[in-house]
Amino acid sequence: MKLANNKATLSFSNGSPSVDMPVYSGSIGPDVIDIRKLYAQTGMFTYDPGFLSTAACQSAITFIDGDKGELLYRGYPIEQLAVNCDYMETCHLLLYGELPDAEGKAKFSRLVSMHTMVNEQMQFFLRGFRRDAHPMAIMTGLVGALSAFYHDSTDINNPQHREIAAIRLIAKMPTLVAMAYKYTQGQPYIYPRNNLSYAGNFLHMMFATPCEDYVVSPVLERAVDRIFTLHADHEQNASTSTVRLCGSSGTNPFAAIAAGVACLWGPAHGGANEACLNMLEDIQKMGGISKVGEFMEKVKDKNSGVKLMGFGHRVYKNYDPRAKLMQETCKEVLAELGLENDPLFKLAMALEKIALEDDYFVSRKLYPNVDFYSGIVQRAIGIPVPLFTAVFALARTVGWIAQLNEMIGDPEYKIGRPRQLFTGSTARNVLPLGQR
Ligand code: CMC
Repeated sequence: MKLANNKATLSFSNGSPSVDMPVYSGSIGPDVIDIRKLYAQTGMFTYDPGFLSTAACQSAITFIDGDKGELLYRGYPIEQLAVNCDYMETCHLLLYGELPDAEGKAKFSRLVSMHTMVNEQMQFFLRGFRRDAHPMAIMTGLVGALSAFYHDSTDINNPQHREIAAIRLIAKMPTLVAMAYKYTQGQPYIYPRNNLSYAGNFLHMMFATPCEDYVVSPVLERAVDRIFTLHADHEQNASTSTVRLCGSSGTNPFAAIAAGVACLWGPAHGGANEACLNMLEDIQKMGGISKVGEFMEKVKDKNSGVKLMGFGHRVYKNYDPRAKLMQETCKEVLAELGLENDPLFKLAMALEKIALEDDYFVSRKLYPNVDFYSGIVQRAIGIPVPLFTAVFALARTVGWIAQLNEMIGDPEYKIGRPRQLFTGSTARNVLPLGQR
């Protein structure tokens, strides 16, 4: 970041002296006002619940222009990455800053594939869960538990530990998600196959059984790879900020990523794909397309508590570019599987059409986000609805770890410690029990 030509001046109506604050510019995006000395100079904090106007860090990884509907990973538009690169190249880009050449890609893919197995003991840990446990409950536990198995990569201040933890996490997440799935099905775990691609290996671990081999369809493999690429990073969202805050205490990378998994679970964040699919199924049960109008009235009624899941975004005030790519993939997958007339897809298209023309959505700049179509794709592939968010977590792991490692390498990094506006009781005396 560099100092901008101007500075910001904060003045007060009560006659207190005004305060000058430096302004910094990044390479693109809004400038920031540096308020780090504000408390020392004025005795005041800033108040910004939900971080609507707060840049919590500097980052060179991902940039979003929400008004334009633009998403760049290390400067490359998501539309170009989704079409010209696969997930392994995207991981390399996010972690190291550059796309690999052919040799670099082969080396990186090989390195990741050498870490796809998890310690055999993990399956006994998994057995402690009920068979009907939500996969995200399992994933939160399993990812945190990795720190108990890989002691040689838990020192966040050691660059080699950080590097190997990154590779281990990226490599082992598909294995853990597939294990969580197989466990809920009561099926034996399928070991990773390192001759398959990252996405192909995931599909194989999910759907092969010891008695029936599973031949990976190239169309589905590409679709899964695209889901991974589109979800790989999204700058300082809730789960990434959670990973950064958690990691800022110096905890180990596995624990920090487990915190990210827990945050992602919520329906306003990664859980939206599951919530969106459930919503489509509910409307379908109510009568399908003929009930769309009625459903939309509920969404617009603030007292109903009903939201159009898969719509709206804190940053995008335009069509989420990932949603366009996901809609394309959705069409390809449904055609491959002979599901062109899939009623949920038709329903989603009808909902989208109405929403894009309705003043409620138009005036609030609410557009489909990535989750609007990703659930339909995953369901068509055979991934069960409760596993959707775990697939998102798998894909986002590279972003989390790249952001975590960037933070640790930043000379300005400090433990995260927000302040507050206290509104509770002032100091008072504790009365003995009998007098209360
Ligand atoms: N359906 C109906 N109304 C909505 C929706 C929606 N999906 N999203 C926002 N609004 C309304 C909201 O009620 C508010 O109206 P008003 O100004 O009259 O009070 C206005 O639009 C602005 O919304 P907001 O809640 O202030 O916006 P936010 O930035 O705090 O929330 C959001 C963003 C993503 C949490 C929200 O849009 C939402 O809950 N969407 C549905 C869940 C979803 O699809 N989440 C996935 C996000 S993309 C994947 C990811 O990155 O995790």
